[in-house]
Amino acid sequence: MLQVIIDRSEFEYEAGELIKLFEAEFAFSGEIPETGRALKLESFEDSGFICCKGSYIQNAAIQQSHTEQIELADTIDSRTLKRESKILTKRCIFELLSRVHGTKPPWGILTGIRPTKIVQELLDSGMTEEDIMHNLEEKYRLSPEKAKMATAIAITERKYIYPPDSGKIALYVSIPFCPTRCIYCSFPSNTLKQWGHLKAEYVRTLIYEIEQTAKIVSRWGKTLESVYIGGGTPTTLSSGELREIITAIRGSFDFSGVKEFTVEAGRVDTIDEDKLMALRELDIDRISINPQTMNDATLKRIGRRHTSSDVEASFKMARNMGFSNINMDIILGLPGEKPSDVEATLERIAELSPESLTVHTMAIKRASNLRGELSEHSLADYEDMESMVDISAEYAKEMGLVPYYMYRQKYMLGNLENVGYAKPGCECIYNMNIMEEQQSIMAVGAGGISKFVYHDENRLERVPNVKDIQHYIARIDEMIKRKEEEVFKNAYTGT
Ligand SMILES: C[S@@+](CC[C@H](N)C(=O)[O-])C[C@H]1O[C@@H](n2cnc3c(N)ncnc32)[C@H](O)[C@@H]1O
Ligand code: SF4
Repeated sequence: MLQVIIDRSEFEYEAGELIKLFEAEFAFSGEIPETGRALKLESFEDSGFICCKGSYIQNAAIQQSHTEQIELADTIDSRTLKRESKILTKRCIFELLSRVHGTKPPWGILTGIRPTKIVQELLDSGMTEEDIMHNLEEKYRLSPEKAKMATAIAITERKYIYPPDSGKIALYVSIPFCPTRCIYCSFPSNTLKQWGHLKAEYVRTLIYEIEQTAKIVSRWGKTLESVYIGGGTPTTLSSGELREIITAIRGSFDFSGVKEFTVEAGRVDTIDEDKLMALRELDIDRISINPQTMNDATLKRIGRRHTSSDVEASFKMARNMGFSNINMDIILGLPGEKPSDVEATLERIAELSPESLTVHTMAIKRASNLRGELSEHSLADYEDMESMVDISAEYAKEMGLVPYYMYRQKYMLGNLENVGYAKPGCECIYNMNIMEEQQSIMAVGAGGISKFVYHDENRLERVPNVKDIQHYIARIDEMIKRKEEEVFKNAYTGT
């Protein structure tokens, strides 16, 4: 256990998030212990510089120390001063613990914040691409590869979603049903076995919410730009139910500005010709067919009731039916998998040549079954995770796919990243928007979270629908009213 003594207690949370990358167990304390390990952080000003000195201590004796400093401009305001001091403290921790442990996490001191958000701000300030990469490496201690990737993604995002247009919004439709629950998943995924009896009523309620939400959007005067039906697994529904929902969306909203309509077909044990035909006939232009892995033993282990050949068969069926924008999701670090499994998976995916590939690194989510069964599984260590990330980047490149969006989240193995790769021109606008949080999203369905972006105030307001299907059905008018209130409160215009 590492005892951490920090004089700026207001930085404890962020310091802790960074220390977690190096130390399994630590605690904040007031004094240096007489025995054991400690990290002491002291902030001070010295001859026009703000400084942070870190000392790594063992049995009350300093083993190593490191000081970070930046020059203090005369004009610095108190908010900037606090922000810069926090960055300085994090840099000090990073450098000292990197030295102690002999490892440098590639995302440097960035734990919570999205790296592309920083790059967007720097691009807005007029900085050149080269200076931005330099800034990411120097100020935030990103590795050169990650600095390059974050910068490239931010530049692609600018082709589609920057500068943000507050007149446009996205629609998200949640279908929270799945055939069975995959062990790693924490998404709304009610199994049909348990909740199938509510499916028909859910679809009726959802269509009502779609119609009422369309009225709100029309009064609000916003233009719909993209639609995403996700979940769960939307293709758990019958082809008739899918038709009803999509027809309701097309019939209720003004589609003149819609550039993209995605349906997450997801698990191939829910896909058949009838459903794909329904999606084709209703002009769905982007679908996902997600292997997660092409290793049959892993598929079984994670509770997906399909094989890798089923994935190939479904993909080919969709291709033959004319789908020209197909995404595939994979997860790196699935229980029992090694880099060689990821390589084998990508080899087979490359043969299918999807238009986009979304590479997730395994996150051990609190609400997943895996969290409770951790002792029964072998999970990849940091080096294996890093090598899986590198392998996926190489394959994506060979497949002609370039990174276009990324995000990091808590509890991800190795604190690495999720990256969306796409053939140029096949980038998913909805995915970019949801990650950058620059466009308001109207969400319908159980577990859907509407997000209202207030550009002027640089803030986001979330309006979640309840997750529980029964509650959703019973409280639908309340869900609709909440969105309406958020839209029209304070004569909100969303600028
Ligand atoms: C909302 S899920 C729905 C996808 C669809 N139902 C399916 O299973 O194919 C979207 C994606 O998130 C990823 N995912 C889900 N849980 C994850 C976890 N714990 N760690 C990493 N990725 C995860 C999977 O790749 C999945 O395809
Ligand atoms: S990964 Fe997909 S299919 Fe599996 S439980 Fe989660 S949402 Fe459902």
